[in-house]
Amino acid sequence: MNFDTNAVRGKSKPDPTTGAIIPPIYQTATYVLEEVGKDKGFDYTRSSNPTRQDLEEHLAAIEGGKYAIAFSSGMASADSCMKLLSKGDHVVCCDDVYGGTARLFNKLMTNYGVEFTYVDSQDADNVEGAIRPNTKMLWIETPTNPLLKVTDLEAVGNIAKSHELLYVVDTTFATPVFLRPLEYGADIVLHSLTKYLSGHNQLIGGALITNRRDLFEELKYIQKSVGAVPSPFDCWLTIIGLKTLHLRMSRHWENAEKIAEYLEGHPKVSRVIYPGLESHPMHEVAKSQMSGFSGMISFELNGGLEAGKKLMNSVELCMLAESLGAVETMITHPATMTHAEVPREERLARGFEDGLVRLSVGIEDVGDLISDLDAAFEKV
Ligand SMILES: Cc1ncc(COP(=O)(O)O)c(C=O)c1O
Repeated sequence: MNFDTNAVRGKSKPDPTTGAIIPPIYQTATYVLEEVGKDKGFDYTRSSNPTRQDLEEHLAAIEGGKYAIAFSSGMASADSCMKLLSKGDHVVCCDDVYGGTARLFNKLMTNYGVEFTYVDSQDADNVEGAIRPNTKMLWIETPTNPLLKVTDLEAVGNIAKSHELLYVVDTTFATPVFLRPLEYGADIVLHSLTKYLSGHNQLIGGALITNRRDLFEELKYIQKSVGAVPSPFDCWLTIIGLKTLHLRMSRHWENAEKIAEYLEGHPKVSRVIYPGLESHPMHEVAKSQMSGFSGMISFELNGGLEAGKKLMNSVELCMLAESLGAVETMITHPATMTHAEVPREERLARGFEDGLVRLSVGIEDVGDLISDLDAAFEKV
């Protein structure tokens, strides 16, 4: 099936007992066995649940993967990947990774003896140069949060292959509508389902997708052992969200492109970062591996932090909030919100300034969004 059909239909069939067109919410903790040793494929919801299974099959179908495993958050998905590692293992990670991922790696995983090296993966040679004898995993986010850095997934995929490393790619910002890393050699794709995939600011969730049976079995075992599973209701809400993913993403992209151009032409804006702009240093790579540029934009104002704060405090339609990827437009100050725990010197060293503003462009009328930004810029 083509992508749009998979997005709408997933793998679900009408409910066999009632014909319900939408899969039921199997809100149950356990299942009655037919007799000792004989269940109907489900024994306890931490291990498996029909609504969750429906979501997992749907996610695998849209990502073009064989297996998906759903978790209670994007971070629970990342944590499960970490559990594939052992004490003494080393990970090469892109430097501009989501603040929560950096916190998990630097503040928690280092306590378990896992080591991390951060590199600017926009140059694939930096990734290869950081590989050590104990390196086990490459961790790439593309586009990154919040600097929208873009990694050449095929180039890094070749490095992962030649060094026999696990290759994990977080494409929460791109979604499988625009980028499918399994096609470029990724072993595991990570999504925060909280964002575009569920799409309506209604839940927290995460998922891992893989083509490898061995990894699927290991991750399924971790899921069952740790129990960071999404509720059946959240799975159901995500399924409903997925059905319009392709439509929402084209509008996010269309709106974002217009706003990025508007910002680039604004006299009070000093820098706009959007992979769809020719001024983005990795625009050509983005263009070749993505079929669209999604809805995230970061920018800085001439007056730095103070001007940025004034703008964020003055918008009315755009909402000052800590998330992204929903139908509502959200504006975020990464330095004090999503990436508050990243040390300032580290941020500045990679060009992540105090005044950076991140915009998650929603699917409202773009003229209304630009009028809102215009009115806010007047107050800066
Ligand atoms: C790129 C990226 N990956 C992972 C996560 C974590 O997802 P969650 O908030 O669902 O745990 C986020 C959250 O913002 C993110 O931006």
